[in-house]
Amino acid sequence: MDRIVILTGAGISAESGMGTYRGPGGLWDSMRIADLATPEGYARDPARVHEFYNMRRQRSATVAPNAAHEAIARLQRDYGGKVTLITQNVDGLHEAAGSPSVIHMHGRLAGALCTACDHRWDAPDEMSPGHPCPACAAPEARPDVVWFGEMPYHMEEITAALARCTLFAAIGTSGQVYPAAGFVQEAFRAGAHTVEINLEPSAVVSDFAETRFGRATQTVPAWVDDVLGR
Ligand code: APR
Repeated sequence: MDRIVILTGAGISAESGMGTYRGPGGLWDSMRIADLATPEGYARDPARVHEFYNMRRQRSATVAPNAAHEAIARLQRDYGGKVTLITQNVDGLHEAAGSPSVIHMHGRLAGALCTACDHRWDAPDEMSPGHPCPACAAPEARPDVVWFGEMPYHMEEITAALARCTLFAAIGTSGQVYPAAGFVQEAFRAGAHTVEINLEPSAVVSDFAETRFGRATQTVPAWVDDVLGR
């Protein structure tokens, strides 16, 4: 029985209408990472950053999970062994598809974080600069997402899962952002079989033992069927 670790990225939510960060029509084509996804950009213009995440949060509330999210939830439910699901996505589509546990290494659009006391709570639809923390009242609420230059969440748990995994799959991620892009190497060092499931080869495709290219709504259910032996 395998111990499976799955890493997902924006490509798994693309067919749900969330858009991707890179590639044709990607968010970072028309918007600057430095302005919208760094602590420095937030310090310069918090209103603009809140506006961007308000827009993303509102979009995520209108989209539905697709067959790829559903297949992963099915794998988590039906597989006899351990399945650890790690996502770089800040949408809630894995949960909406019924995934029983999801590690959000880059945070969640649905979350708010107080930079004064680290309290976390459910983000309102609209946040703006000076939004007060419900715990300490400091006007320091920000979206609970991880920006460039910040440490991703749950790294200890992720490192431990990679160290004992026997099957690692990266789904819908371009392999351009670390540390997630390096997980395949950690899994390889643990002796795992590694599979990349993506629309096209990622930046780290040569690190994988197996590749499956195509749209996630087709490739992921087929891969899950294979793992479940159907
Ligand atoms: N099915 C499968 N893969 C797809 C699909 C699809 N329908 N559509 C696009 N893809 C692939 C693209 O080919 C690309 O390789 O999904 C990948 C998306 O890459 P990115 O947009 O770079 O997303 P991701 O890898 O998740 O980005 C990592 O960057 O800006 C940050 O914090 C943000 O978590 C994000 C991180």
